[in-house]
Amino acid sequence: MQKEKILEVNNLKTYFYTREGVVKSVNGVSFEVNKGEILGIVGESGAGKSVTGFSLLRLIEEPGEIVSGEVKFKGQDLLKMSEKEMNKIRGNKISMIFQDPMTSLNPVLTVGRQITEVLIFHQNYSRKDARRRAVELLEMVGISSPEKRIDHYPSQLSGGMRQRVVIAIALASNPEILIADEPTTALDVTIQAQIIGLMKNLIDKFNTSMIIISHDLALISEIADKIMVMYAGDIIEYGDKGKLISEPAHPYTQGLIDSLPVLERDQKRLNQIKGLMPSPLDLPEGCKFKPRCDYAGDDCPEGTELFEVSKAHFATCRKAQFFSKKLMRGVG
Ligand SMILES: Nc1ncnc2c1ncn2[C@@H]1O[C@H](COP(=O)(O)OP(=O)(O)OP(=O)(O)O)[C@@H](O)[C@H]1O
Ligand SMILES: [Mg+2]
Repeated sequence: MQKEKILEVNNLKTYFYTREGVVKSVNGVSFEVNKGEILGIVGESGAGKSVTGFSLLRLIEEPGEIVSGEVKFKGQDLLKMSEKEMNKIRGNKISMIFQDPMTSLNPVLTVGRQITEVLIFHQNYSRKDARRRAVELLEMVGISSPEKRIDHYPSQLSGGMRQRVVIAIALASNPEILIADEPTTALDVTIQAQIIGLMKNLIDKFNTSMIIISHDLALISEIADKIMVMYAGDIIEYGDKGKLISEPAHPYTQGLIDSLPVLERDQKRLNQIKGLMPSPLDLPEGCKFKPRCDYAGDDCPEGTELFEVSKAHFATCRKAQFFSKKLMRGVG
């Protein structure tokens, strides 16, 4: 069955024109999200994950600018829409959840008010129906005694509960896409797992699509169907989760996998990727990972084009795959 494509991003570029120079935070990325699908964006700090997420909703502020590209939502290019049309999409058809729940919540309004506002303004609910629906939504995101909690202020809730409320607000408009940028980073590990499980359930239930952004590949691989690995503004690997995790093609992806803290893993494999991400103002030509790469050589690809490694799996390099296969043959 043909999957319904809900979002198609083509060659998106977002630059920041700083006094020190031009920061090419997102340097020509292309990807797709299908209906009901979860895309995970992963990479180290500064990779361009958040700027990608913000660009989709045109939330880039000075000195930043979306320089070129297309962001097609159900075939319509959001980058060509008027600000008025865009306001109908933002927080409605496409919702966003941020790392710190307090940045999304209004401290002087009750939880209920913040949910009912979305229902009344975006979904044409009456005040009475909105309150009933808000209680339902709070229940759905796992808040106990929702009839009581609905009249609480954000400050009366724990961090985990606040993030649940943020999810309830984001879902109130019945969005077609939910963008979640590090939605659990501010929470402790047990709560993180609960929230991730909750989001996955709700995505299935509402048949919403989701883009989840995190520096944590373990978290991403738990929830995503498809993974996109970013490095210094480029997508360096992209594809179905299973393939990308079991047969990483790019040495950087392999590095991320090798640095996952898995207890059973041989200690020697518990490596950090050596070196640091280059300064965004002084990027190497071609592959930006080259200075940190164990496999770098004269035969490295010159550009940063993605090519097909196997079906539904793309990368800008296939050295990790080549070397790990060779190693396996050597062992076997
Ligand atoms: N307002 C800004 N002005 C200048 N440069 C910016 C601005 N916002 C982001 N950048 C730069 O864009 C690049 C990508 O930033 P981004 O916030 O997308 O990284 P990230 O992958 O989300 O990292 P993190 O994991 O730390 O959230 C970085 O080099 C960052 O310094
Ligand atoms: Mg970020």
